[in-house]
Amino acid sequence: MKPALIVHGDAWEIEEESHVERVAGVRAAAEAGWALLTAGGSALDAVERAVALMEDNPVLNAGVGSALNREGEIELDAIIMDGRTLALGAVAAVRGITNPVKLARLIMEDAVHSLLVGEGARRFAELKGMRLCAQAELTVSREVERFRRLQERASYHPTGQLSPDPMDTVGAVALDSAGNVAAATSTGGVHFKMPGRVGDSPLVGSGAYADNLAGAAATTGHGESIMRVVLAKTATDAAERGMSAQEAAEYAIRVLHERTGGFGGIIVVDPHGRVGYAYNTPQMAIAWVGEDGSIHAEIAQQAAGKDV
Ligand code: GLY
Repeated sequence: MKPALIVHGDAWEIEEESHVERVAGVRAAAEAGWALLTAGGSALDAVERAVALMEDNPVLNAGVGSALNREGEIELDAIIMDGRTLALGAVAAVRGITNPVKLARLIMEDAVHSLLVGEGARRFAELKGMRLCAQAELTVSREVERFRRLQERASYHPTGQLSPDPMDTVGAVALDSAGNVAAATSTGGVHFKMPGRVGDSPLVGSGAYADNLAGAAATTGHGESIMRVVLAKTATDAAERGMSAQEAAEYAIRVLHERTGGFGGIIVVDPHGRVGYAYNTPQMAIAWVGEDGSIHAEIAQQAAGKDV
């Protein structure tokens, strides 16, 4: 089977000054995942590698460069899911880990549970020999400045409305040459969130879903809206009913928009290896592998007046 891969580095109103680095970041992630897939690697390894690279990229809100919460702390969420078995591993509100997607993979493979949070997740990471880090290693000046700005607005709370402070997430979905699909998502969550707040990203079916019978999807956007419509599962269910990846992505975003009024984006691969994406935000940072094996990376722009 011909492999397929699509990754994203957020959908929102993406700060102009980050466009070049963001496109380079999603391209590098797609290249790394694709190299693995074309060498016969698994979809699971490809999405983990692509997401881990985006976590290492300080421009993106995942791993290094993550958003600070109301108390100036970084708490990270991630999920990985294997479409062969429906096995999944997820972490939420974990501190002091550079690559939460790798921890999610360890949980999927080595823990008797599927989702670990906070201190328990961190202790599991330590037990498995993962390197723990100080918060300073995850913190970038852009986010410290944003935190200070938001602190001055005493009543500020993140909402689902479009604002200059994005709801960043990174994600990847893939199909490998054995016909297996996988999905992974990682995020620092919304800016200035309450401590302990968990968004859609680590929630199975909301932040990601993968099932060989239906395809795989990964989402980004306002978590409190996305989880209400179980956005990733809404897309893979649609693909299972026969929609193409692109139709399923557009359908899921329509459901998000019509049922919650919330904003977000989604990437989908269907079991035939077609990829698609959709968003009702102004922009989405995206990279995918075309029919000819070349990588397309861009900040996709909503067509003026386009209705989702
Ligand atoms: N989609 C990221 C979040 O809401 O946390």
